[in-house]
Amino acid sequence: MSEEASRPLVFVTRPIAEQALAELAGFARVDLWEDEMPPPRDVILGRIAGADAILSLLTDGIDAAVIAAAPRLRVISNLAVGVDNIDLDAATASGVAVGHTPGVLTETTADLAFALLMAAARRIVEADSYTRQGRWRTWGPRVMLGRDVFGAALGIIGWGAIGRAMARRAAGFAMRVLYAARADKPHQARIGATGQEIAGASAVALSELLGESDFVSLHVPLTPETRGMFGAREFRAMKPGAILINTARGEVIDQRALYEALAAGHLGGAALDVTSPEPIAPDDPLLKLPNVIVTPHIGSASQATRLRMAQIAVGNIRDALAGRLPAYCANPAVRLKTKIA
Ligand code: DGY
Repeated sequence: MSEEASRPLVFVTRPIAEQALAELAGFARVDLWEDEMPPPRDVILGRIAGADAILSLLTDGIDAAVIAAAPRLRVISNLAVGVDNIDLDAATASGVAVGHTPGVLTETTADLAFALLMAAARRIVEADSYTRQGRWRTWGPRVMLGRDVFGAALGIIGWGAIGRAMARRAAGFAMRVLYAARADKPHQARIGATGQEIAGASAVALSELLGESDFVSLHVPLTPETRGMFGAREFRAMKPGAILINTARGEVIDQRALYEALAAGHLGGAALDVTSPEPIAPDDPLLKLPNVIVTPHIGSASQATRLRMAQIAVGNIRDALAGRLPAYCANPAVRLKTKIA
């Protein structure tokens, strides 16, 4: 076998930052799917069959059948903090490490969540369209009136790193911050779950948070417990006129129920960076509502953060191929498979 052929093979499912690809090519053979669209399932099944590692995106479904089709696979390295596209149990049972990219995208995602909050409150997207359509005829005392952010109440659901980063931003706007970190019961809040307090933020029950917040921002991972946790009941419990921000995962909310709460005039608006499905259908009724903003899942999309995520994903592969647990491992209990010659 040539020296080149003896290097591990990594299937990379989309072009990532050039610099990170070059780092990967320094220790592995790179099989790159160059298309902008995700590789179809049959391509993943075919290309993973001979791979020692896969660098996957959140759009790639890495389920038990895909893992079973990859006898040499030692690591699935996801370019995301969320790993809801991967069957973690199947990976662990097969001795395959799952790497992810927490931490590095926290501030970038909180920036976007706060930008969406501001945009929804002050109707920035609507106001920009109004101007472009030539409807701005004069300064008007009743034109494009929005909601104050300064001094308003912000409810944060999910008190992890991104939820707390959101709270820090809110402090600069003198917002009253309420938070609820959800436990395993659908309608209960776990108080101070992380033990990391932010000055001025109060842990409350979910019902109190919903009833008192002018803005509610979701920051939970998608798990069996959080899937669909926000439905008609939660929207009804929100304060009239409140605005919902979702930068977590679309499946956390019941989108139909959200539409109904908005169409009925109970909610004041919504700003969504994530939808179910993704992309949202162009004829989805939510997109007909002027008080809804939808961005295409860009929470972590800054140049610096996407480069850092790609480097961490490459580092996770390097670790696993060297027989170590990835530095950022989503299944740390895994017993790593040894190299197959
Ligand atoms: C993640 O990392 O899970 C985000 O949704 C994309 O950066």
